Amino acid sequence: MQLDQAQQIIDAAVSPMGDGPLNEQALSKHLHPLFSRVLARNESTNEIYLANHSLGRPLDMVSEVVQTALDGWYTQLDGVWNEWIDARNRYRSQISSLLRWDDDRAIAPKTSAAQGLRAVLNALPTTRPNVVSTRCEFDSIDFVLKAYDYKQRASLRWVEPDAQDLMQPDTIIDAIDDSTDLVVVSMVCFVTGQVVEGLDRIIAKAHACEAMVLVDAYHAFGVLPMDFRALDADFIIAGNYKYTRGGAGACFLAINPRHLSQTGGVPEHGTLFPLDTGWFAKHNPFAYSRDDDPAYASGGDAWLEATPPVLTYYQALPGLMLSNAIGIDRLRAYSLDQQQTLVEALTTHGVHPRVLQHRGAYLLIETEDGRAATQQLKAAGVNCDARPLSRSDRWAIRLCPDLLNTNDELETAAQRIAPVLRGI
Ligand SMILES: Cc1ncc(COP(=O)(O)O)c(C=O)c1O
Repeated sequence: MQLDQAQQIIDAAVSPMGDGPLNEQALSKHLHPLFSRVLARNESTNEIYLANHSLGRPLDMVSEVVQTALDGWYTQLDGVWNEWIDARNRYRSQISSLLRWDDDRAIAPKTSAAQGLRAVLNALPTTRPNVVSTRCEFDSIDFVLKAYDYKQRASLRWVEPDAQDLMQPDTIIDAIDDSTDLVVVSMVCFVTGQVVEGLDRIIAKAHACEAMVLVDAYHAFGVLPMDFRALDADFIIAGNYKYTRGGAGACFLAINPRHLSQTGGVPEHGTLFPLDTGWFAKHNPFAYSRDDDPAYASGGDAWLEATPPVLTYYQALPGLMLSNAIGIDRLRAYSLDQQQTLVEALTTHGVHPRVLQHRGAYLLIETEDGRAATQQLKAAGVNCDARPLSRSDRWAIRLCPDLLNTNDELETAAQRIAPVLRGI
């Protein structure tokens, strides 16, 4: 299936739903047929999938789109490159739309969020930057920062959450001072799903101290309406395997245009420029010139690297197109409705989830033993996961409904969850 055809099919499914709020009847009629493969799995396994925050469910067309990308290789050999690069450009464009960003080239595709973080750390003007980050960052980010700290390629200052495992913006703000070079902070914390309020104040403080801010938006991308220009972060990292249903390996680094050169060329010493690079980031890659100094491409292309992993773009595009076609505002409103339905069903069955006022796409249930709980829940027919909380010995079970979960399913999930958690 060609990408244009994929877009047409998605548009034809979304437009009959109108512009109003999403509702289950319209979703079942118009959108669920695009997911027949994963929905068929529901029937055969009797499992209720509430791990949508972990690995999003793919549209049927993903495998057909990827197949077409591969077919082009067989039939056109090196003539396929134009199509592959076109897919990369569409990928950048779909992501920039979700960030309400008008410069597609400010999006540098990456294969992981960690790769985006490393690209920024290595690009900073100082060789041992002072970094402020929090104990609530995802393991990949946490590990990269610790490795840099250990190798004395960064000096870390860690900010702790409060006794309720919540990040308080003022503790981050207080940790930033004139010695800070970079702040690394999540928009939505991965364990609790807390939306970190006051990011604007954190960013303003960092900028007042001439520090840059990298926002990890993995649990916000495709969930919360975002506006990169208004946010004014220097960098955003995120990826597609969760809410935008794009599978593994399809991530990105977004670079604020104030860090991009209009003309490209050889950067000044002591400025921000990427070392995680390759010939796709060269000023004129197909000139094959070998100047002594590195002349970078203009704009965000300077942050491209070497020959790109083209199939990841095909794999991620259908989900991105769907998210853009529906619109994040409507997806968010529907997600909050579904969460409310699940909260009420759980409460009726005697289970009291922890409902944060400012939260992303999932609910929490605290438990002593997250591993045992999720194993038993899976055996009872509810697929979810759990992560350890950082301030206590307890775990947070994470439950995330999505467009494919019906209200009946949420009620059944609550019925299945209650006896399991009462027994733990
Ligand atoms: C907040 C957050 N950041 C990043 C990632 C993924 O990081 P990486 O792409 O480096 O594996 C996740 C995955 O769950 C996450 O929750």
